[in-house]
Amino acid sequence: MTFSTALTRKLGIALPIVQGGMQWVGYAELAAAVSNAGGLGILTALTQPTPEALRKEIRRCRALTKNPFGVNLTLLPALVAPDYSAYAQVILDEGIRIVETAGNNPGPVINQLKNEAEMTILHKCTTIRHAKSAIKLGVDFLSIDGFECAGHVGEHDITSFILLGRARQELEVPFIASGGFADGHGLIAALALGAEGINMGTRFMCTAESPVHRKIKERIVAADENDTELVLRRWRNTQRLFKNGVTADTLNVEKTSTSGEFSEVAPFVSGKRGREVFLNGDPEYGVWTAGQSIGLIHDIPTCGELLTRIEKEARSAMDRIRRMGSAQSTL
Ligand SMILES: Cc1cc2nc3c(=O)[nH]c(=O)nc-3n(C[C@H](O)[C@H](O)[C@H](O)COP(=O)(O)O)c2cc1C
Repeated sequence: MTFSTALTRKLGIALPIVQGGMQWVGYAELAAAVSNAGGLGILTALTQPTPEALRKEIRRCRALTKNPFGVNLTLLPALVAPDYSAYAQVILDEGIRIVETAGNNPGPVINQLKNEAEMTILHKCTTIRHAKSAIKLGVDFLSIDGFECAGHVGEHDITSFILLGRARQELEVPFIASGGFADGHGLIAALALGAEGINMGTRFMCTAESPVHRKIKERIVAADENDTELVLRRWRNTQRLFKNGVTADTLNVEKTSTSGEFSEVAPFVSGKRGREVFLNGDPEYGVWTAGQSIGLIHDIPTCGELLTRIEKEARSAMDRIRRMGSAQSTL
């Protein structure tokens, strides 16, 4: 099955499938594997400790694939914010022309990146309101992240089904569907709802080329759709994480703290310990990000195998729908 959507045409990719930015996961090996398989691989800028380290990672990725790939730049609240402008400058200097932006107040970074005429920006957001603000900044695609998604789900809890329908009704810029997608059936559903492609995180985290420890991938395979937890709602920074003892402790503090000080919960949600999980393979060592699509994941394929399978599933889903559409009505 060949695809021609606004996304494939604009980015020059074969399949309308994007691997979303993932902290501590989006390294060159994974991004290149996705791009080599016909999707769009994305490096995660802040996984690199400095802008110069990002420069090296971009060069490493370029050595691993001749196909287009992008870079994710995530703007999140932090006590000491990273030098986003310096990361963006490296992205520009290294000739990257596809960037996934996400997070708070993306205006300055988008303006900086958009100085380059050839730049394509996919901006990820969880509400139609934020999507409309991003359109005013000149983004080329919206990546509409439903409540099922891994990581920052926002505070409105609108699932992909409704959010994508609203995007189709309201947005005059093309969009892709993110949150809860893991197979070809989801891809066809997203296209039917008006999207130009899908973005996947959790599914790509559980592939052979993902740098995550094998035991974590096996834990994902053993898990089901009930195995995620929402934390940090009290601080309006809600995140969907893999459900474990640490998320239970986090929720306990969240519910019982009388001060409501974030510092009480901070040690539980430490990014440093979360990173260790991916290296030491102990799913209980800290918090780590996963979406409800975890319930759809039953194996650890290579990215090539995964994308071939998604294409095949998409074809059979389309055939099934076509047969239904051409069947004689019995009513
Ligand atoms: C381990 C992990 C880390 C993530 N880190 C980031 C990040 O740093 N920036 C970002 O924009 N999205 C991040 N995401 C979200 C993904 O890019 C994507 O939007 C999300 O996973 C889509 O939902 P899905 O997991 O159901 O496919 C992360 C997701 C995972 C699974």
